[in-house]
Amino acid sequence: MRPVLILLTLLLPLGAGAEEIIGGHEVKPHSHPYMAFVKSVDIEGNRRYCGGFLVQDDFVLTAAHCRNSSLHRSMTVTLGAHNIKAKEETQQIIPVAKAIPHPDYNDTDLSNDIMLLKLENKAKKTKAVRPLKLPRPNARVRPGDVCSVAGWGKTSINTTEGSALLEEAELIIQEDQKCKRCFHHYTETTEICVGDSQKIKTPFKGDSGGPLVCDNKAYGVLSHVKYKKISLGVFTKVVHFLPWISKNMELL
Ligand SMILES: *[C@@H]1O[C@H](CO)[C@@H](O)[C@H](O)[C@H]1NC(C)=O
Ligand SMILES: *[C@@H]1O[C@H](CO)[C@@H](O)[C@H](O)[C@H]1NC(C)=O
Repeated sequence: MRPVLILLTLLLPLGAGAEEIIGGHEVKPHSHPYMAFVKSVDIEGNRRYCGGFLVQDDFVLTAAHCRNSSLHRSMTVTLGAHNIKAKEETQQIIPVAKAIPHPDYNDTDLSNDIMLLKLENKAKKTKAVRPLKLPRPNARVRPGDVCSVAGWGKTSINTTEGSALLEEAELIIQEDQKCKRCFHHYTETTEICVGDSQKIKTPFKGDSGGPLVCDNKAYGVLSHVKYKKISLGVFTKVVHFLPWISKNMELL
């Protein structure tokens, strides 16, 4: 009798929570302590918002398109947030000392859409702020693998609308062919093709720049999304850029 009961208590919460994950749901506060909210201001005062994630106590990884190259003025990163519209004690708001977009980033086809942000001071590691591990150089994700993305819902870079609370959605790795048909410039060596777990057009809950998390590691950076029969998203493939990431983190 006893083992059966234990098994039931283990299984029930999993079954009950499963529906909420599909299509995006609010996360348990501070369960994603690596999540960063990136605010970028241009010289005209226009703001754009992105997601990102802490990879070292003084470095955040995000998408290169989160910075307006010609009119760029300043960036700040908020760590430790759950409700991004509230002033929470757990929040650490740190200015960006240096934005390092990938030198081959192309804003026409969004190739090499990855950027390191060197923070002006080190983030304090707390239960709400902690870096996310990067995958090993030989690590791969395969079609059918289940991963997730989190963000404050500002999928369009110019909108200020979105969720105040951090949300998460379950995503499934897709065949590269699917993204090749959908995105003209999709490149499988540098990008990962991802779809939502529902077969309907639900928007990705993540912000661009947010991490594709598989097996508790950052496999991708959300670059761009299209809504077809299912939502398809292109993530920059972190494994491909590991040498560039470590070189730049060592230099600064
Ligand atoms: C930079 O921002 C301005 C104002 O928001 C916008 O008109 C322009 O297209 C942006 N440029 C790039 C390269 O994103
Ligand atoms: C950027 O991408 C477009 C479309 O693929 C291409 O035509 C252009 O040459 C690229 N620019 C650079 C600087 O590589």
